[in-house]
Amino acid sequence: MGFFDFMTEEIAMDLGTANTLVIHNGKVVVDSPSIVARDRVTGKIIAVGKEASLMQGKTHDNIKTIRPLKDGVIADFDASEKMISLFIKSIPALKKKMFTPALRMVVCIPSGITEVEMRAVKESCERVNGKEVYLIHEPMAAAIGIGIDIMQPKGNMIVDIGGGTSEIAVLALGGIVCDKSVKIAGDVFTNDIIYYMRTQHNLFVGEGTAEKIKIQIGAAIEDLDQGPEDMLVQGRDLLTGKPKQINISYREIAKALDKSIQRIEDAVMETLSQTPPELAADIYNTGIFLAGGGSLLRGLDKRISQKTDLPVYIAEDPLRAVVRGTGMVIKDINKYRSILIK
Ligand SMILES: Nc1ncnc2c1ncn2[C@@H]1O[C@H](COP(=O)(O)OP(=O)(O)O)[C@@H](O)[C@H]1O
Ligand SMILES: [Mg+2]
Repeated sequence: MGFFDFMTEEIAMDLGTANTLVIHNGKVVVDSPSIVARDRVTGKIIAVGKEASLMQGKTHDNIKTIRPLKDGVIADFDASEKMISLFIKSIPALKKKMFTPALRMVVCIPSGITEVEMRAVKESCERVNGKEVYLIHEPMAAAIGIGIDIMQPKGNMIVDIGGGTSEIAVLALGGIVCDKSVKIAGDVFTNDIIYYMRTQHNLFVGEGTAEKIKIQIGAAIEDLDQGPEDMLVQGRDLLTGKPKQINISYREIAKALDKSIQRIEDAVMETLSQTPPELAADIYNTGIFLAGGGSLLRGLDKRISQKTDLPVYIAEDPLRAVVRGTGMVIKDINKYRSILIK
């Protein structure tokens, strides 16, 4: 350890399509929606994270909310840079210091991101004083966070269902053997619910309401052992224009999400069919691991298990598996150097 190391702070960041999390000194210090709000007149970013997410769907002409990484690609480079920088500057221990100290960072990025976009993320981190910035792919970080020893000559399958993308990967010997990234995940589930309410109940609900429905009664199968109770949903009647309330069961939501979940299942099956036989044999024994917010959908583990005839396990605290893994990598960077993106 050199003198310089005493002044270097270590930061692990999960730059997700829906949520960004940061670990500093072994603790989660940022856990916020990946969203910024911009003033259209001045072009300035006026809010980030939770504050910006409260504005979503309620903005007027002069304010726009942006999710810079919405579909797993960087839609707005400037907004994404501001978001990264504001999140880092919001870390309590760094806020107290007069200058941002030198940072050693590991940042986890969606797999679909291009090289140009990777460079942009790296440069954004360097501009907030990132002296050493490493990038890592999401399924790899998720696997480490779940507690899998990814260096072993053994195959493991990870399915990470986030906001914008679902990432499926088979890992062995510290590398990704085969993988697939599909743009069917939490955001699509939310839109499915909006569409279902409109077409089946003539009820217009906003994104926020649909997201609440998904979390409160969302399900992947219609025959849950212990299903949640029905939910009262308010929205605008499309025929009369008046506000209206209806009762919705989890079975209806399972119907609404069925097609999208099927597409995730297809991607899992396709990845399995591309897996070399020795690794397929390992996965037969170890099963499939689910991570990401989408894995909290009731009955999704059971459904994937029925489809694949494999045991399926949900990561502990699945929304934080990736940042946990990224945090483990920064703590032991020499061990994991070979798995970082070159
Ligand atoms: N209990 C839940 N049931 C279903 N979906 C959920 C639940 N909690 C969070 N989500 C969804 O998970 C997604 C965010 O997951 P996350 O892993 O943070 O995504 P990302 O890594 O892409 O940022 C959102 O679409 C959110 O609506
Ligand atoms: Mg994620």
